[in-house]
Amino acid sequence: MNFFNRSNPIGIFDSGIGGLTVVKKIASYLPSESIVYFGDTARVPYGSKSNDTVIEYSLQDARFLLSKNVKLIVVACNTASSVAIDALRNELEIPVIGMIEPGAKMALETTKNERIGVIGTYATINNKAYSNQLQQLNNKVEVFEKACPLFVPLAEEGWTDHKATYEIAEEYLKELRDKKIDTLILGCTHYPILSKVIQEVIGNDVTLIDSGTAASGIVENHLEGRNLKTHYNGLGRHDFYVSDIQTKFKDIAERFLGRPLDYLQKIDLEELKSHSGSN
Ligand code: DGL
Repeated sequence: MNFFNRSNPIGIFDSGIGGLTVVKKIASYLPSESIVYFGDTARVPYGSKSNDTVIEYSLQDARFLLSKNVKLIVVACNTASSVAIDALRNELEIPVIGMIEPGAKMALETTKNERIGVIGTYATINNKAYSNQLQQLNNKVEVFEKACPLFVPLAEEGWTDHKATYEIAEEYLKELRDKKIDTLILGCTHYPILSKVIQEVIGNDVTLIDSGTAASGIVENHLEGRNLKTHYNGLGRHDFYVSDIQTKFKDIAERFLGRPLDYLQKIDLEELKSHSGSN
């Protein structure tokens, strides 16, 4: 196994296109690093599935990335970070970075009134991933959570500025507006795609926290601390794999990342499932 090679890529996975918000951040912090991305577009959403299923899918996604010789894995999915991070860390011998701790820490550094809102999938909210983490770090903080499952298909559809998105955001966020929060964690990596709408509906006095941004700094620290930062000076290569190529994936991904995809390939679900055991 050659995971100590600093020229190896960083592996990033999500259930769909949401993890691209994390790719974008990591690529801007670490432009010379190569990235292999896996989006499980055939099985999205993860957020309404059982913990056992999310753990099983996350392990398959991570093993697939391992087969591409990644040196570190970023779980660019809050749902998978909420329920599968221990299973992933137990199985994998490379560093695994999740979304919850970096997002919670950034929110605590941001809030002034110690009233924090969290929006995420059913799985992330029902597992109390953020509220447990926030209260563990600061037991004075008050946390108000709301599951917003329809934001995922809206983001996958590319409805970043659609009337329906405003109406749904209004419905989901109205109860958080009454809670006098000054900070709102976007606890799903799909949500930054809808940040314009979310910001307008929640109000400009609330700071949005993108856990992908928070995690990017941690990735850099890990690479530096373990001597794993690439020495290459050019622009890193970005390879994308998905379990189903939806017609819109390429368009939405390129529009969102602001650059053409170097490489896009579909991975058969049967092949994905065949990645069993610890490589
Ligand atoms: N993007 C994912 C997250 O951060 C999950 C969306 C889903 O598959 O439900 O939670």
